Amino acid sequence: SNQFCKTEIGIGEVGCGIISSSSTTKLLIKGGTVVNAHHQEFADVYVEDGIIVAVEPNLRNVIYTCYPLVALGYLVGDDVKVIDATGKYVMPGGIDPHTHLAMEALNTETVDDFFSGQAAALAGGTTMHIDFVIPVNGSLTAGLEVYEEKAKKSCMDYGFHMVITKFDDIVSRDMEIMVKERGINSFKFFLAYKGVLMVNDELLLEGLKRCKSLGALAMVHAENGDAVFEGQKRMIQLGITGPEGHALSRPPLLEGEATARAIRLAAFVNTPLYVVHVMSIDAMEEIARARKSDYFPKCVALFSSPLPSLTFIKAPRNLSFGTVNRVVKCTSTTRFYSRHIGQRVIGEPVVSGLVLDDSRLWDSDFTTASKYVMSPPIRASGHGKALQGALSNGVLQLVGTDHCVFNSTQKAFGIDDFRKIPNGVNGIEERMHLVWDTMVESGQISVTDYVRVTSTECAKIFNIYPRKGAIIAGSDADIIILNPHSSFEINARSHHSRTDTNVYEGRRGKGKVEVTIAGGRVVWENNELKVVPGSGKYIKMAPFNYLFSGIDRADASYLSSLNAPVNRFKSTT
Ligand code: URP
Ligand code: ZN
Ligand code: ZN
Ligand code: ZN
Repeated sequence: SNQFCKTEIGIGEVGCGIISSSSTTKLLIKGGTVVNAHHQEFADVYVEDGIIVAVEPNLRNVIYTCYPLVALGYLVGDDVKVIDATGKYVMPGGIDPHTHLAMEALNTETVDDFFSGQAAALAGGTTMHIDFVIPVNGSLTAGLEVYEEKAKKSCMDYGFHMVITKFDDIVSRDMEIMVKERGINSFKFFLAYKGVLMVNDELLLEGLKRCKSLGALAMVHAENGDAVFEGQKRMIQLGITGPEGHALSRPPLLEGEATARAIRLAAFVNTPLYVVHVMSIDAMEEIARARKSDYFPKCVALFSSPLPSLTFIKAPRNLSFGTVNRVVKCTSTTRFYSRHIGQRVIGEPVVSGLVLDDSRLWDSDFTTASKYVMSPPIRASGHGKALQGALSNGVLQLVGTDHCVFNSTQKAFGIDDFRKIPNGVNGIEERMHLVWDTMVESGQISVTDYVRVTSTECAKIFNIYPRKGAIIAGSDADIIILNPHSSFEINARSHHSRTDTNVYEGRRGKGKVEVTIAGGRVVWENNELKVVPGSGKYIKMAPFNYLFSGIDRADASYLSSLNAPVNRFKSTT
């Protein structure tokens, strides 16, 4: 069994499972193929104190004393842990843009907290995630305090999105504080979960305007919550109380409707939009249409604040290494773009939506059927394949998980009524493997695109690139080594999440993350986890990502093109 035991581990337990990290702070990864989203090459990677110092072919771990040292520009000493990556891919650690660790729901809490969920992530090659802060009685600051406490046990880097459940002057002011002081650059609006988290169009519009003025990215859970509520009542009236009732009560058209509505309201305000967990063809096609539309504002919108001067990436570091003092800089004044798009809409599929279908919701065993309950629901076969296609052709840009796990005892709260089944599936540990197997191994995307959809695009959208999402000198040393010739197998007995089921039970595939390096420490090697609670850092994320580029100018040129005089007619009396 694993060094790390899900049943025995807990914060503060130092017995089984937690092994203190090795003292080595210098790593040399030799002989692999280094893959970035923009480039791949045979190169070695040298890491010191958590930072990538050099990426070049043939780095040596011997002391040179004369000419070759000067030629190389640095040297790598002999107190270095050398990792052989011959025949393997050396890639940026995965970044999961969508998780719910230690989240309270339906009077219970997800079983993976910031330690166990992150440990599972690291075992699967993910080295950072962005979790959703839920406000406390609508208060953002109170919500953030709770999550800061939860995250103290972190063993990998993490960031936060903030959910908005109400809107008033205090929320508006707190949004500004979150963006300007607390490192949060995205806000999520639930168009579903009526009576709990759902917001109406009026609130969504207020939120979109505020997001625009702050340079923050608006995110939506897109399902029509009023119609879902109605659909649930119909199912119960018909006596369809099992897990299949969950899917039947909220069909794809309700996801398509809410996606279309959010996209159009974002266009009305002229601000970028990020649609989380795109689960259906219906939603995906709305995103496709928006992204290929021309980019001209269609309404007079509020002006966004002008883009601040180019000081986004807060990762410049001065490093000296070897015996040569050389300054390595993350380019702190560069802005990073992704491909040009029409309306600025980002679509995030999640692994469950890409690889599963709804058939198991009809399973005769409740534990089996209920483990697939999530929202929006996992769809009929055909949707997943279409979402894979959309990921390969660029309609969808990055893959999340919506990792949100409950034990079968918690899922059983809803044995008589699907509405009481806590929503959510696993995936934080499986994402990197399943995306590799489904998308790369099948030939649908390239290895560089794999890096883009699992890591780089997320880093760009949330404005932490190239500190994260890249293997270049100056980036954080969050690195995985993937062996394309090895294979993986998934089951609840051997996974590292605390949950007792796995929606990918029994799945095998090609490609295996053999080594995970997080913050310069080898945390996963030889199928063993070496994780330290408290070693993960909070990553602050700055506003005005690349999607905001040109928005203020577009607003201005649209307004000046209107030829609509002010007070054109006036009463004479
Ligand atoms: O079923 C889900 N997705 N649970 C997590 C909350 C959400 O909607 O993202
Ligand atoms: Zn054990
Ligand atoms: Zn959601
Ligand atoms: Zn979610």
